[in-house]
Amino acid sequence: MRGVIFDLDGVLVSTDELHYHAWKSIADGLGIAFDESHNHALRGVSRMESLERLLGDRAGEFTDEQKHALAADKNDRYRASLKSLTPRDRLAGVDRLLEELRAHGVRMAVASASKNAREILDRIGLSAAFDAVVDGVDAPKSKPDPQAFVLAAERLGLEPPACVVVEDADAGVRAARAAGMRVIAVGAAAGHPEADDSCTSLGELTSSRLLG
Ligand code: BG6
Ligand code: MG
Repeated sequence: MRGVIFDLDGVLVSTDELHYHAWKSIADGLGIAFDESHNHALRGVSRMESLERLLGDRAGEFTDEQKHALAADKNDRYRASLKSLTPRDRLAGVDRLLEELRAHGVRMAVASASKNAREILDRIGLSAAFDAVVDGVDAPKSKPDPQAFVLAAERLGLEPPACVVVEDADAGVRAARAAGMRVIAVGAAAGHPEADDSCTSLGELTSSRLLG
């Protein structure tokens, strides 16, 4: 029995722009420079760790309480924008690949750093498509810590070497490696030196290529 563990943001759905606009308004409010390249570096990174990176040298100016308030403000803005997500926002190739894997009896999970993962899956109509979901509440240690992937394998009832991870973030590719899993880098992470295989989108992936 094999299992495939998908990251969510950037793999099944693109929420990049939504995260970007929410973080950008926080950064603008603080007079901190923040552009798409800064946002790119936050892929796969937890909310609080993302805030620390956004604050950078100025992190010491804020109390924990202030940091939590900033993160809550960002999340409110982000969640308001999630309301626009629909099943049409599933990325290219997702439906075909999930169907193909299901037909081959492959067990499937989502392992995301996002505490909003379940709501996002719901909005894009994929809540029932997976045998297990691990979100940022279940696995609070930010990727590259392997916690989310190890827990997803456990919930699938599989050993790590039986699992393949699909990731779009550098931190996620490293987390999958640390979990002892095969890893396919997609989109933004394509060509990652630690990945076993790479592709620009799921549209290029077949179940046999994925399972190796
Ligand atoms: C990851 C995203 O999936 O979730 C990151 O790639 C994000 O950009 C992280 O910071 C945490 O998300 P949330 O929804 O819990 O703020
Ligand atoms: Mg991602």
